[in-house]
Amino acid sequence: MARYGHRVLWVLFLSGVFDPMRFDHTIRDLEEVRRVYSLWGRHPRLYAAQDWITFMGRHRRIREGAVEAAAIQPNARVLEVACGTGRNFPYIEDRIGPGGQLVGFDYSHEMLAAARDFGMRRGWSNIEFVQGDAAVLDVGSQPFDAVVSVLGISAVPDHLAALRRCRDILRSGGVLAVCDARLFSGALAVFNPLVRTIYGRGAAWNPDRDLPGDMRRVFGNVSVTTYNRGTLFVAFATK
Ligand SMILES: C[S@@+](CC[C@H](N)C(=O)[O-])C[C@H]1O[C@@H](n2cnc3c(N)ncnc32)[C@H](O)[C@@H]1O
Repeated sequence: MARYGHRVLWVLFLSGVFDPMRFDHTIRDLEEVRRVYSLWGRHPRLYAAQDWITFMGRHRRIREGAVEAAAIQPNARVLEVACGTGRNFPYIEDRIGPGGQLVGFDYSHEMLAAARDFGMRRGWSNIEFVQGDAAVLDVGSQPFDAVVSVLGISAVPDHLAALRRCRDILRSGGVLAVCDARLFSGALAVFNPLVRTIYGRGAAWNPDRDLPGDMRRVFGNVSVTTYNRGTLFVAFATK
Protein backbone atom coordinates (compact mmCIF):
# COMPACT_ATOMS: atom_id res chain seq x y z
CA MET A 1 0.00 0.00 0.00
CA ALA A 2 2.84 2.38 0.96
CA ARG A 3 4.24 1.86 -2.56
CA TYR A 4 1.03 3.32 -4.05
CA GLY A 5 0.36 5.92 -1.32
CA HIS A 6 1.85 8.84 -3.22
CA ARG A 7 -0.06 7.86 -6.39
CA VAL A 8 -3.33 7.82 -4.43
CA LEU A 9 -2.50 11.28 -3.07
CA TRP A 10 -1.79 12.52 -6.61
CA VAL A 11 -5.13 11.21 -7.85
CA LEU A 12 -6.94 12.86 -4.91
CA PHE A 13 -4.97 16.07 -5.48
CA LEU A 14 -5.77 16.19 -9.21
CA SER A 15 -9.44 15.43 -8.54
CA GLY A 16 -9.58 18.27 -5.99
CA VAL A 17 -10.54 16.01 -3.05
CA PHE A 18 -7.22 16.57 -1.30
CA ASP A 19 -5.78 20.03 -1.79
CA PRO A 20 -3.04 20.93 0.71
CA MET A 21 -2.97 24.54 -0.58
CA ARG A 22 -6.67 24.97 0.16
CA PHE A 23 -6.22 23.59 3.67
CA ASP A 24 -3.35 26.03 4.16
CA HIS A 25 -5.55 28.91 2.88
CA THR A 26 -8.24 28.02 5.41
CA ILE A 27 -5.76 28.10 8.26
CA ARG A 28 -4.34 31.43 7.12
CA ASP A 29 -7.83 32.88 6.61
CA LEU A 30 -8.85 31.82 10.11
CA GLU A 31 -5.73 33.51 11.41
CA GLU A 32 -6.89 36.67 9.62
CA VAL A 33 -10.36 36.36 11.23
CA ARG A 34 -8.72 35.97 14.63
CA ARG A 35 -6.50 39.03 14.07
CA VAL A 36 -9.20 41.33 12.68
CA TYR A 37 -11.90 40.48 15.23
CA SER A 38 -9.56 40.49 18.19
CA LEU A 39 -9.41 44.26 17.58
CA TRP A 40 -13.16 44.79 17.04
CA GLY A 41 -13.97 42.61 20.05
CA ARG A 42 -11.82 44.82 22.28
CA HIS A 43 -13.69 47.90 20.99
CA PRO A 44 -17.37 46.87 20.86
CA ARG A 45 -18.55 50.51 20.83
CA LEU A 46 -16.49 51.19 17.74
CA TYR A 47 -17.96 48.04 16.21
CA ALA A 48 -21.46 49.32 17.05
CA ALA A 49 -20.63 52.66 15.40
CA GLN A 50 -19.55 51.07 12.13
CA ASP A 51 -22.92 49.28 12.06
CA TRP A 52 -24.56 52.56 11.09
CA ILE A 53 -22.31 52.86 8.01
CA THR A 54 -22.58 49.20 6.99
CA PHE A 55 -26.38 49.19 7.18
CA MET A 56 -26.68 52.85 6.05
CA GLY A 57 -28.68 53.68 9.16
CA ARG A 58 -31.10 50.74 8.74
CA HIS A 59 -29.38 48.30 11.13
CA ARG A 60 -32.46 47.81 13.32
CA ARG A 61 -34.83 47.18 10.42
CA ILE A 62 -32.47 44.77 8.63
CA ARG A 63 -31.33 42.85 11.72
CA GLU A 64 -34.96 42.53 12.74
CA GLY A 65 -35.72 41.32 9.19
CA ALA A 66 -33.08 38.57 9.48
CA VAL A 67 -34.46 37.34 12.80
CA GLU A 68 -38.03 37.57 11.48
CA ALA A 69 -37.06 35.40 8.48
CA ALA A 70 -35.90 32.63 10.85
CA ALA A 71 -39.55 32.22 12.01
CA ILE A 72 -38.50 31.97 15.67
CA GLN A 73 -41.27 30.99 18.09
CA PRO A 74 -41.49 31.56 21.86
CA ASN A 75 -39.33 29.06 23.84
CA ALA A 76 -37.37 28.11 20.70
CA ARG A 77 -33.80 26.83 20.70
CA VAL A 78 -31.78 29.17 18.47
CA LEU A 79 -28.17 29.23 17.30
CA GLU A 80 -26.50 32.41 16.14
CA VAL A 81 -23.47 31.57 14.00
CA ALA A 82 -20.70 34.20 14.07
CA CYS A 83 -22.68 36.15 16.68
CA GLY A 84 -19.92 38.72 17.15
CA THR A 85 -20.62 41.15 20.00
CA GLY A 86 -24.26 40.04 20.22
CA ARG A 87 -25.95 42.78 18.21
CA ASN A 88 -28.75 40.44 17.13
CA PHE A 89 -29.40 39.10 20.63
CA PRO A 90 -32.13 41.68 21.49
CA TYR A 91 -34.22 40.67 18.46
CA ILE A 92 -33.75 36.95 19.15
CA GLU A 93 -34.41 37.31 22.89
CA ASP A 94 -37.60 39.29 22.13
CA ARG A 95 -38.90 36.27 20.25
CA ILE A 96 -37.72 33.30 22.31
CA GLY A 97 -38.43 34.89 25.70
CA PRO A 98 -36.93 33.64 28.99
CA GLY A 99 -38.09 30.07 28.24
CA GLY A 100 -36.01 29.84 25.06
CA GLN A 101 -32.37 28.92 24.59
CA LEU A 102 -29.80 30.87 22.59
CA VAL A 103 -26.34 29.65 21.67
CA GLY A 104 -23.93 32.37 20.51
CA PHE A 105 -21.14 30.86 18.43
CA ASP A 106 -18.05 32.72 17.20
CA TYR A 107 -14.42 32.11 16.34
CA SER A 108 -13.14 35.25 18.06
CA HIS A 109 -12.61 35.01 21.82
CA GLU A 110 -12.73 38.80 22.06
CA MET A 111 -16.03 39.14 20.16
CA LEU A 112 -17.52 36.40 22.37
CA ALA A 113 -16.27 38.14 25.52
CA ALA A 114 -18.00 41.36 24.38
CA ALA A 115 -21.18 39.37 23.64
CA ARG A 116 -21.07 37.76 27.09
CA ASP A 117 -20.70 41.21 28.75
CA PHE A 118 -23.60 42.53 26.70
CA GLY A 119 -25.80 39.55 27.62
CA MET A 120 -24.97 39.95 31.32
CA ARG A 121 -25.74 43.67 31.27
CA ARG A 122 -29.13 42.96 29.68
CA GLY A 123 -29.83 40.23 32.26
CA TRP A 124 -30.31 37.37 29.78
CA SER A 125 -29.51 34.11 31.56
CA ASN A 126 -30.50 31.76 28.72
CA ILE A 127 -27.45 32.31 26.47
CA GLU A 128 -24.62 29.82 26.12
CA PHE A 129 -21.40 30.90 24.40
CA VAL A 130 -19.33 28.55 22.25
CA GLN A 131 -16.02 29.35 20.56
CA GLY A 132 -15.00 27.57 17.36
CA ASP A 133 -14.89 27.48 13.60
CA ALA A 134 -18.34 27.54 11.97
CA ALA A 135 -17.08 25.06 9.36
CA VAL A 136 -16.95 22.49 12.17
CA LEU A 137 -19.78 23.98 14.27
CA ASP A 138 -19.30 21.80 17.30
CA VAL A 139 -22.48 22.62 19.27
CA GLY A 140 -23.55 19.20 20.50
CA SER A 141 -26.22 16.93 19.08
CA GLN A 142 -29.45 18.57 20.32
CA PRO A 143 -31.12 20.04 17.21
CA PHE A 144 -31.99 23.73 16.83
CA ASP A 145 -35.30 25.25 15.72
CA ALA A 146 -33.56 28.10 13.93
CA VAL A 147 -30.09 29.32 12.96
CA VAL A 148 -29.34 33.00 12.32
CA SER A 149 -26.18 34.52 10.90
CA VAL A 150 -25.72 38.22 10.14
CA LEU A 151 -22.62 39.35 8.22
CA GLY A 152 -20.98 36.15 9.42
CA ILE A 153 -21.05 33.44 6.75
CA SER A 154 -19.25 35.62 4.18
CA ALA A 155 -16.29 35.90 6.57
CA VAL A 156 -16.09 32.16 7.33
CA PRO A 157 -13.20 30.72 5.29
CA ASP A 158 -14.92 27.41 4.52
CA HIS A 159 -18.44 28.83 4.23
CA LEU A 160 -19.85 25.82 2.32
CA ALA A 161 -18.89 23.49 5.15
CA ALA A 162 -20.53 25.97 7.55
CA LEU A 163 -23.79 25.96 5.55
CA ARG A 164 -23.81 22.16 5.53
CA ARG A 165 -23.25 22.08 9.29
CA CYS A 166 -26.12 24.58 9.76
CA ARG A 167 -28.38 22.20 7.84
CA ASP A 168 -27.15 19.22 9.90
CA ILE A 169 -27.88 20.79 13.27
CA LEU A 170 -31.36 22.08 12.36
CA ARG A 171 -34.42 20.02 13.17
CA SER A 172 -36.58 19.03 10.23
CA GLY A 173 -38.64 22.14 9.33
CA GLY A 174 -36.08 24.42 11.03
CA VAL A 175 -34.92 27.59 9.26
CA LEU A 176 -31.51 29.10 8.50
CA ALA A 177 -31.63 32.89 8.00
CA VAL A 178 -28.55 34.62 6.63
CA CYS A 179 -28.11 38.36 6.27
CA ASP A 180 -25.11 39.53 4.27
CA ALA A 181 -23.80 42.28 2.04
CA ARG A 182 -23.11 42.64 -1.68
CA LEU A 183 -21.09 45.06 -3.74
CA PHE A 184 -22.82 48.04 -5.41
CA SER A 185 -24.31 47.67 -8.86
CA GLY A 186 -25.01 50.44 -11.40
CA ALA A 187 -23.31 53.82 -11.16
CA LEU A 188 -22.20 53.28 -7.53
CA ALA A 189 -20.07 50.30 -8.64
CA VAL A 190 -17.18 52.77 -9.05
CA PHE A 191 -16.87 52.59 -5.24
CA ASN A 192 -16.54 48.79 -5.23
CA PRO A 193 -12.72 48.61 -5.22
CA LEU A 194 -12.72 50.86 -2.14
CA VAL A 195 -15.52 48.92 -0.40
CA ARG A 196 -13.77 45.64 -1.20
CA THR A 197 -10.48 46.87 0.30
CA ILE A 198 -11.99 48.42 3.44
CA TYR A 199 -14.33 45.51 4.31
CA GLY A 200 -11.90 42.86 3.07
CA ARG A 201 -9.12 44.09 5.35
CA GLY A 202 -11.29 45.43 8.14
CA ALA A 203 -13.88 42.65 8.36
CA ALA A 204 -12.42 39.62 6.51
CA TRP A 205 -15.42 40.03 4.16
CA ASN A 206 -15.47 38.05 0.92
CA PRO A 207 -18.02 39.57 -1.51
CA ASP A 208 -17.37 37.03 -4.28
CA ARG A 209 -19.56 34.33 -2.79
CA ASP A 210 -23.09 33.68 -3.93
CA LEU A 211 -24.53 32.86 -0.51
CA PRO A 212 -28.20 32.54 -1.57
CA GLY A 213 -27.08 30.26 -4.43
CA ASP A 214 -24.99 28.18 -2.04
CA MET A 215 -27.90 27.97 0.40
CA ARG A 216 -30.11 26.71 -2.42
CA ARG A 217 -27.49 24.08 -3.29
CA VAL A 218 -27.23 22.91 0.34
CA PHE A 219 -30.93 23.16 1.36
CA GLY A 220 -32.68 22.76 -1.99
CA ASN A 221 -34.63 26.01 -1.42
CA VAL A 222 -34.03 29.67 -0.63
CA SER A 223 -36.00 32.95 -0.49
CA VAL A 224 -34.32 36.33 -0.65
CA THR A 225 -35.30 39.88 0.34
CA THR A 226 -32.99 42.76 -0.55
CA TYR A 227 -32.42 46.07 1.22
CA ASN A 228 -30.49 49.27 0.54
CA ARG A 229 -30.50 49.03 -3.28
CA GLY A 230 -29.49 45.38 -3.14
CA THR A 231 -26.33 45.92 -1.09
CA LEU A 232 -27.79 43.92 1.81
CA PHE A 233 -29.98 40.85 1.69
CA VAL A 234 -31.72 38.40 3.96
CA ALA A 235 -31.91 34.85 2.62
CA PHE A 236 -33.67 32.01 4.37
CA ALA A 237 -33.84 28.29 3.71
CA THR A 238 -35.90 25.57 5.37
CA LYS A 239 -34.63 22.07 6.16
C1 LIG B 1 -18.89 41.24 10.66
S1 LIG B 1 -18.85 40.28 12.13
C2 LIG B 1 -20.59 40.00 12.38
C3 LIG B 1 -20.91 39.82 13.83
C4 LIG B 1 -22.41 39.76 14.17
N1 LIG B 1 -23.04 38.64 13.54
C5 LIG B 1 -23.14 41.02 13.80
O1 LIG B 1 -24.23 40.93 13.24
O2 LIG B 1 -22.67 42.11 14.14
C6 LIG B 1 -18.27 38.69 11.55
C7 LIG B 1 -18.11 37.68 12.68
O3 LIG B 1 -17.83 36.42 12.07
C8 LIG B 1 -16.96 35.72 12.94
N2 LIG B 1 -16.32 34.64 12.19
C9 LIG B 1 -15.56 34.74 11.09
N3 LIG B 1 -15.13 33.52 10.69
C10 LIG B 1 -15.67 32.63 11.55
C11 LIG B 1 -15.60 31.21 11.67
N4 LIG B 1 -14.90 30.48 10.81
N5 LIG B 1 -16.29 30.62 12.67
C12 LIG B 1 -17.02 31.36 13.55
N6 LIG B 1 -17.09 32.70 13.50
C13 LIG B 1 -16.43 33.33 12.52
C14 LIG B 1 -16.00 36.81 13.41
O4 LIG B 1 -15.26 36.45 14.55
C15 LIG B 1 -16.96 37.97 13.63
O5 LIG B 1 -17.43 38.00 14.96
